[in-house]
Amino acid sequence: MAPQGFTTNDSPARARWATRLGLSGKLFVLTVCAIMMAEVVFYVPSVATDRIAWLTDRLAAAHTAALVLKTEKDYRISDSLQRELLASIGAKMVAMRIDNMRQVLATTQVTQQIRQDVDTRDMSMVRAIIGAFDTLLFCKDSDIMRVVGPAPMGGDFLEIVIDEGPLRQHLWRYSRNILLISLVISTIAAALLYLALHYLFVRPMHRITNNMMAFRADPENPARVITVTGRQDEIGIAERELATMQHDLASMLQQKSRLAALGLAVSKINHDLRNLLASAQLISDRLSHLPDPRVQRFAPKLMRALERAIDFCQSTLSYGRAQEPPPDRKMVGLAALVDEVRETLDLGPESAIGWVSAVERGLMVDADHDQLLRVLINLARNAVQALETRAPNDRTRDQIRVTGRRQGAVVVIEVADTGPGFPEKAREHLFEAFQGSTRTGGTGLGLVIASELVRAHGGEIRLADGTIGATFQITIPDRAVELDARRSERARA
Ligand SMILES: Nc1ncnc2c1ncn2[C@@H]1O[C@H](COP(=O)(O)OP(=O)(O)OP(=O)(O)O)[C@@H](O)[C@H]1O
Ligand SMILES: [Mg+2]
Repeated sequence: MAPQGFTTNDSPARARWATRLGLSGKLFVLTVCAIMMAEVVFYVPSVATDRIAWLTDRLAAAHTAALVLKTEKDYRISDSLQRELLASIGAKMVAMRIDNMRQVLATTQVTQQIRQDVDTRDMSMVRAIIGAFDTLLFCKDSDIMRVVGPAPMGGDFLEIVIDEGPLRQHLWRYSRNILLISLVISTIAAALLYLALHYLFVRPMHRITNNMMAFRADPENPARVITVTGRQDEIGIAERELATMQHDLASMLQQKSRLAALGLAVSKINHDLRNLLASAQLISDRLSHLPDPRVQRFAPKLMRALERAIDFCQSTLSYGRAQEPPPDRKMVGLAALVDEVRETLDLGPESAIGWVSAVERGLMVDADHDQLLRVLINLARNAVQALETRAPNDRTRDQIRVTGRRQGAVVVIEVADTGPGFPEKAREHLFEAFQGSTRTGGTGLGLVIASELVRAHGGEIRLADGTIGATFQITIPDRAVELDARRSERARA
């Protein structure tokens, strides 16, 4: 593992360096490096070619001298003329091979050892490159070399011996010029690239990052949403996406604040409603002592309804608290529960809306009684409200049907109606708080509460497709512990 001190001391320094250099600075340095590398790739063969050209120039001068000497008998000339001729070529010796005879045309005293031979007639690029770097790096001013090239006047070849020093100086001059030109080109290219990137890319990026920081400071303020410039490139896309995201976030946060305020209001209403219901409960308790048989029949129902209402207020009415209390699950008879729903909604035999309960005989569901009741009341009340939009209602046509069956360890409950079906808006915002209501006076919470309660049981609620009216299907699985307990019960038996 790397020592702690290394990473902690090194990283901030590197981060500071990277920040100071910035994106444009880094690109500047990278461009200079890339162009310099490209120049090196160009330089290596070019220095070899330049060396060959320099040597070919010397051979060409020797070639001209050979043509001049042709006029002399047997190529014989005076020593002084030889020296002049050799000086003009920059050579120490010029020889030519004609008819397998090597003829020295002009020479001075050559005392040193020849360091290298170059035959320009047959020169591969690799050998030319090696030769060039050999001259550049390893030759001394006193070294001499022999150069062989094509001969004039039907000769086999022309041969000269020259000092290597001038060639070395020439190659160093050439290298220095290439380096200077490369530096100038790469600096100009990098500066252009820097400016182009700065205006096209870095400045807009700064604008986006500055806007992000300003937005973060006050995300609920729609004035802080970035202004889109209308660019069509990736920066434009980033701006548009950011603007959409900021709009969504700002409106979401505004909604959250409204919900928080609403939650507080609901809690206050809840508190006083509970007190009022408690008073109503006291009065109905007194009523239940009256001897009237009709009062005797209805008073317990009224008492139960008030009790439930107080319980709802006591625990968590809709979104008053962040979470519903966890379900207190027991085996509940579904048929009785469905009857309770019917009674609560007052859908007796005289009602204009028909009620069909098709629950398997003796079906027990492993659920919190009150929570499942709330789920079914919400679904059934929605169905009633949907059917009432078609008033006047007809009992044979307008029906609510509740079915219940067991499939292994899961109880499936369906609440179906023959109403007008689900509106598109409600379908789009299914189970989204405050979003899906299409009813005047509706809050859009009923289905959300139902789905939350079902999910707290580990179950699922979904809107079934392709039915007349609307059909909700609920699945409530038995608790795993319950299964284990049952298995052990069975084993004991
Ligand atoms: N059985 C149904 N048939 C047709 N539309 C329905 C049915 N059940 C729900 N809907 C649609 O779904 C919407 C949302 O229902 P939800 O119960 O969540 O809210 P709500 O009934 O409008 O208000 P509340 O919060 O008071 O219940 C309803 O406004 C209605 O348009
Ligand atoms: Mg509802």
